[in-house]
Amino acid sequence: MPVKSYFDPDTSSFTHLVWDDSCRQAAIIDPVLNFNYRSARTSNQAADLVIDDIKRLDLQLQYILETHAHADHLSAAAHIKQRCGGQTAIGANMPLVQREFKNVFNLAYLASDGSQFDLLLHEGQRLALGELSIEVLETPGHTPACVSYKIGAAIFIGDTFFAPSYGTARADFPGGDATALYQSLQRLLSFPDATPLYLCHDYPKPGEEPHAVYTVAEQRKNIHLQGKGADDFIQLRRQRDAQLDMPALILPAIQVNIGASELPRAEGNGTAYLKIPLNQIGK
Ligand SMILES: [Fe+2]
Repeated sequence: MPVKSYFDPDTSSFTHLVWDDSCRQAAIIDPVLNFNYRSARTSNQAADLVIDDIKRLDLQLQYILETHAHADHLSAAAHIKQRCGGQTAIGANMPLVQREFKNVFNLAYLASDGSQFDLLLHEGQRLALGELSIEVLETPGHTPACVSYKIGAAIFIGDTFFAPSYGTARADFPGGDATALYQSLQRLLSFPDATPLYLCHDYPKPGEEPHAVYTVAEQRKNIHLQGKGADDFIQLRRQRDAQLDMPALILPAIQVNIGASELPRAEGNGTAYLKIPLNQIGK
């Protein structure tokens, strides 16, 4: 099964393009919309690299899959859907996240039933991608609505594991839960040793290249799990999370991503605005 991974250095995020070679049907996982916080300018540079490949490879885009409502980058799902078609999809618990942040941002217009997405995916649900099957695995913890996608033999794991030498995703966002994260990590490790697990992020050291995929066997050696049972992991995760600052783009990213990455409507002067809630999140 062909997989191409694209790394966005500004947000340390991976987008993945997967396709069925015989039928030419494709899915994108976690596309990135570029956003310059200083100027509040968006651009489609990262997404257009993927779109160019879809056209060059003569692929039909079926699905734009989100592993969760990202807090560290804006999603380009709406832009890609407009250019290439396909259905947007996210985990079925998305309304939990929408309700939480609808309050934070006072987004009166936002329906909190997940209806902005074409598909709300449940545990065990399967989607056809040519001759491949996409299977939905609920892997909560980082957020209550996180899902992973098993496509062919590979799993796209969202924010669960990072690189084995780096650790695991934080679990302190609203609805996050270190115990649930531990269970999701164990679930991913229950697959065969050679199963490729594709990351959502990588944070390479200076001079090192980002690395998109590790096997289950490699993730068994993840530094956050080494020699630790559930209680030790949960304690470690909570201690680390208490020291972490909010991601740089959490405020623009969440309010866009919970609405399936549609940007806010323009106001009477033709300009669209994002909100910055004061004293609502973080420390
Ligand atoms: Fe995330």
